[in-house]
Amino acid sequence: MEVGGTIGTTVPSKVGILLFPGFEPLDVFGPVEAFHTISKQLAKINLVWIGPSLDPVSTAPKEIHTTTMGSTVDTRVVPTHTYDNPPEDLEVLLVPGGLGPRVPSSDGAVAFVKKTYPKLKYLITVCNGSEIAARAGVLDGKKATTNKFGWKESIATGPGVDWVRTARYVVDGNVWTSGGVSAGIDAILAWMAHVYGREVARQVANEMEYEWRDDKTWDPFAYIFSEYA
Ligand SMILES: *[C@@H]1O[C@H](CO)[C@@H](O)[C@H](O)[C@H]1NC(C)=O
Repeated sequence: MEVGGTIGTTVPSKVGILLFPGFEPLDVFGPVEAFHTISKQLAKINLVWIGPSLDPVSTAPKEIHTTTMGSTVDTRVVPTHTYDNPPEDLEVLLVPGGLGPRVPSSDGAVAFVKKTYPKLKYLITVCNGSEIAARAGVLDGKKATTNKFGWKESIATGPGVDWVRTARYVVDGNVWTSGGVSAGIDAILAWMAHVYGREVARQVANEMEYEWRDDKTWDPFAYIFSEYA
């Protein structure tokens, strides 16, 4: 099948979501909603969940989720695959951010990205998931972005990266990096436009009743969080 921006190449269908303890819920579930929506009538998607083991992976493990409110907001996802045993034919990997990217519990995720990137058609990061990719060395010499709130700490993980501060998302070759949390939805829709065609992406956004910011330079958060620049 030949669709949209990838005339002459095969449209990817095997999509992996990288899980590690302390991943940000919307970084994952925003793009997953778009995959869920497109998968019904518009594109064939085989979604897999890749974690450190087959045990459920928490968004808010006690060790790293500090709260002064006595909150429990632990949401867990059960992986279908492990870092050691991923599907052979993985084409797209989505790397979320969250509390996890900088703590040792994400070292396995970093190693997984390093080993897997050369086989991928696309790598997509959301928010400070770019730290995982930067630590894996796959962003070196590339343009990339991350969230604007934790900007300084994030970019410190990738001194060899050409960081772009005012950007909803950035595309460099087959690597798509996005700004904070909800930016992952705009990035995934733009990626869907690139891969499956703009009308398909627009239909996905409409079905989600999502006001798609189809402009990678739209980024008020670079200004709102300018004190962290
Ligand atoms: C990454 O970004 C999220 C969302 O803005 C934030 O809650 C988290 O603290 C950041 N992670 C790190 C390691 O700074």
